[in-house]
Amino acid sequence: MNKANLSIFASGAGSNLLAIHDASLDKSFPGKLQLVICNKVCPAFELAKSLNYETKLISNLSIEKFELIAHQELIKKKIDLICLAGFMRILSPNFVLKWQNKILNIHPSILPMFPGLDTHKKILLNGLKIHGSTVHIVNEKLDSGKILGQFAFAVKSDDYNSLIRNIKKYENLLYPEVIRKYIWTFLFKEDKFFKDKKIHLNNVVFSY
Ligand code: GAR
Repeated sequence: MNKANLSIFASGAGSNLLAIHDASLDKSFPGKLQLVICNKVCPAFELAKSLNYETKLISNLSIEKFELIAHQELIKKKIDLICLAGFMRILSPNFVLKWQNKILNIHPSILPMFPGLDTHKKILLNGLKIHGSTVHIVNEKLDSGKILGQFAFAVKSDDYNSLIRNIKKYENLLYPEVIRKYIWTFLFKEDKFFKDKKIHLNNVVFSY
């Protein structure tokens, strides 16, 4: 089966990287992770190395220099799709244009609510009763490209750490499924298997 070459950009704990790795072990997953790029040494970087992925650390540089090196690596590995998974730098419009419709991001809020940083704190501070995450195409404006998938759940406690745990648990289910669908529909242009899905799981609503 023809597979899209994937790259993950990460700066954090790596739970979404691991979820994408796990999903890609399934023969029917249409992507193959070829390159992990990190802007600092972080658990995601160590995880990628331990899973024997090709990794590239591009740290302590301006975003322009980071992107220049990243772009060369992506071309070298013939990457078809970049998945930002806890990548905490803002890509320049120039880079986004070069990779137009080929960069996805997962953001921990129900966009368009709460773009930017500290979403969990903002949810708790404002007493919101619903929280979730969004997978979207990256465009030149922060957290505002076309939405591909979301989940939402009821916030039952004001414990910050349990909120993050819940978010990540559901992100790790949503992100690989959205990537799967995106590769088939937008890269391979084969959308016949993919109807829009609305799934209820443990009172969490997933839509993608
Ligand atoms: C995830 O919750 C992701 O939504 C968030 O960082 C976390 C990374 O977790 N992304 C952003 O905040 C991007 N603005 P992970 O390293 O365990 O995948």
